[in-house]
Amino acid sequence: MRVRPCDGLVGTIRVPGDKSISHRAAILGSLATGQTKIDGFLQSVDCLSTLACLDLLGVKFSWDAGALLIDGGGRRGLSEPTEVLDAGNSGTTMRLLAGVVAGYDFLSIFTGDASLRKRPMDRVAQPLREMGARVDGRGDGRFPPLAIRGGFLKPISYRTPVPSAQVKSAILLASLYASGVSRVAESSTSRDHTERMMNYFGIPIEKRDGWVDIGPVTEDPRGRPVTIPGDISSAAFLIAVAACSPGSKLRVENVGVNPTRTGLLDVLRTMGATIELDKEREVCGEPVADVVVTGTKLQGATVAGGMIPRLIDEIPALVVAAAKAEGATVVRDASELRVKETDRIRELAAGLGQLGVVVEPRTDGLAIEGPQEIRGGVASSSGDHRLALALACAGLLARQEVIVRDFACADVSFPGFINVLVDLGVQVDVA
Ligand code: S3P
Repeated sequence: MRVRPCDGLVGTIRVPGDKSISHRAAILGSLATGQTKIDGFLQSVDCLSTLACLDLLGVKFSWDAGALLIDGGGRRGLSEPTEVLDAGNSGTTMRLLAGVVAGYDFLSIFTGDASLRKRPMDRVAQPLREMGARVDGRGDGRFPPLAIRGGFLKPISYRTPVPSAQVKSAILLASLYASGVSRVAESSTSRDHTERMMNYFGIPIEKRDGWVDIGPVTEDPRGRPVTIPGDISSAAFLIAVAACSPGSKLRVENVGVNPTRTGLLDVLRTMGATIELDKEREVCGEPVADVVVTGTKLQGATVAGGMIPRLIDEIPALVVAAAKAEGATVVRDASELRVKETDRIRELAAGLGQLGVVVEPRTDGLAIEGPQEIRGGVASSSGDHRLALALACAGLLARQEVIVRDFACADVSFPGFINVLVDLGVQVDVA
């Protein structure tokens, strides 16, 4: 795709539904009894991978005017898949569903695309084994394909070695099948959508003294309507561009502003950005608002520690804004970036480097000295959706046009990105 530089972003937009919440709504709707109607479900490649796996597990669903209707069969309603479950590019699909099928005494085999097959699965395999499931995989059980035969699970008390919402969620989902109370703790809080949605579905789950306690779960949850807000991780790209470009005035309507996900807004504010929340409300247990950004010149910042899980997916967007900020921006304690859809430390530095931006990759993060001119040119997404979006956003702030090769992978999280840019008056086309 080709994008031309713009003089700030002015307008009111919406972004597609939240990816994390969409996966969870589909999964919990499948494990509930009766109908769950999901409005705002993200029809992106990743979420469609979850639906394809649920389909193979025997879940019945249909579409009604853009809403997803799931006809849930209860916790015991799944059946042994006759085919390999293909999670595509989606770590959330594989790790969360691994937790679900661990509750079943049948064989499930998961695979994924070349990127997902390189991502660590021992982080879910280990606690699920402790609960009593048999989990095997390539590389001594560490990588997909993953084979799971479960059933007869015991409750667990588990401290996750790295803060990971996917690991926490896999354990919480498996705990629906364990008699008794299971507990999960993490060193820094990762996104808590599973906890909130389980609570919304009436599952006994509670946060206490740094632990999430679940169970005993004695009844099937009942299906209910779910409305999904816009994805702050998608909005993040446009928020970051608007925040660092004087002249911008951008309103993103109906965005999820769960505090476990709003680290980027906090960091941009410490960099001097003007970002306000308007029409704050709660929808199906999740905080939602319009995010209003007024562009200005930013200063660099250091981001580390407990902030990292709150903006892990937004670091590509942050780095683009940091290129335009005055002074150094340093990201530390973020080695998790190395095991995302790509090694995002390496690929961000390489991709932005192709556009003339100097980003210093570090073992556990990145450093960037600003302000820098983003020259423009041709850069490759390396098949990573968030890198594709970051490079396109760099193009909005560049001197000359930017061509992003292999941009189609943006559909993994943000289908319709190009149309949103067109609505904002940006000159963009598919080259
Ligand atoms: C996700 C959790 C995060 C995030 C990923 C989606 C989720 O990963 O990076 O894009 O939906 O649970 P972790 O499991 O490493 O927290």
